[in-house]
Amino acid sequence: MKRALKILFFMSCTFLIVICAKPKVYIKFTNAHCQSFNKSWVVINECRLRAIKRDVTALNINITFRHPANDIKLYMVFLKKANGYKPFVLNSTVDACEYILKRNNPIANLVYNIFKSFSNINHTCPYMGDQLLLNFYPKNELITLFLPAGDYVLLMDWILSKKKMFTTNVYFSFYG
Ligand SMILES: *[C@@H]1O[C@H](CO)[C@@H](O)[C@H](O)[C@H]1NC(C)=O
Ligand SMILES: *[C@@H]1O[C@H](CO)[C@@H](O)[C@H](O)[C@H]1NC(C)=O
Ligand SMILES: *[C@@H]1O[C@H](CO)[C@@H](O)[C@H](O)[C@H]1NC(C)=O
Ligand SMILES: *[C@@H]1O[C@H](CO)[C@@H](O)[C@H](O)[C@H]1NC(C)=O
Repeated sequence: MKRALKILFFMSCTFLIVICAKPKVYIKFTNAHCQSFNKSWVVINECRLRAIKRDVTALNINITFRHPANDIKLYMVFLKKANGYKPFVLNSTVDACEYILKRNNPIANLVYNIFKSFSNINHTCPYMGDQLLLNFYPKNELITLFLPAGDYVLLMDWILSKKKMFTTNVYFSFYG
């Protein structure tokens, strides 16, 4: 809790600085990479970017859970590129089943609120079958501008029943 407050405080400070210095920031996906470590449970059908307009790339993810998942942890690491990717921003571990019930993690809220309307994961555990993110592109007005311009990656490790089962890594740029 203390840690979450500290991060929130850090974010609101950064938010104010960015807003004042730079009124407009745009976001663009630059790459997506997913990998399954157990294909008898998790199958990656699609994980790629698609150009939908000039300067707009949409992210499509289609992952099948072949068995119900009741125990899902998400380990997120957010890195900024600067002579290689560095852990500039933050990392966080989220209990996904608890989160989807309580929406109790400020970092997960930032990410989830941006993509939830493009996804079918808005329900409680268990998860089974196709997990989808369809033609997702962040509309600029939805983005909380808390980061300086640059290249970023959000690395997401998904731990099902205490085993690292798959990763979804999304690369993007903010630019002014
Ligand atoms: C892969 O998932 C299947 C289905 O849940 C499970 O039975 C098996 O033990 C898993 N294999 C490994 C190596 O974790
Ligand atoms: C997701 O992938 C599965 C397996 O290939 C396919 O049957 C399903 O139609 C796909 N869903 C969407 C919405 O593309
Ligand atoms: C963040 O990463 C550090 C170093 O790998 C780790 O010790 C810490 O537990 C992580 N924090 C969270 C909230 O996952
Ligand atoms: C799905 O999202 C809507 C809007 O955010 C929310 O009101 C609703 O409770 C959610 N449904 C579930 C099952 O979580």
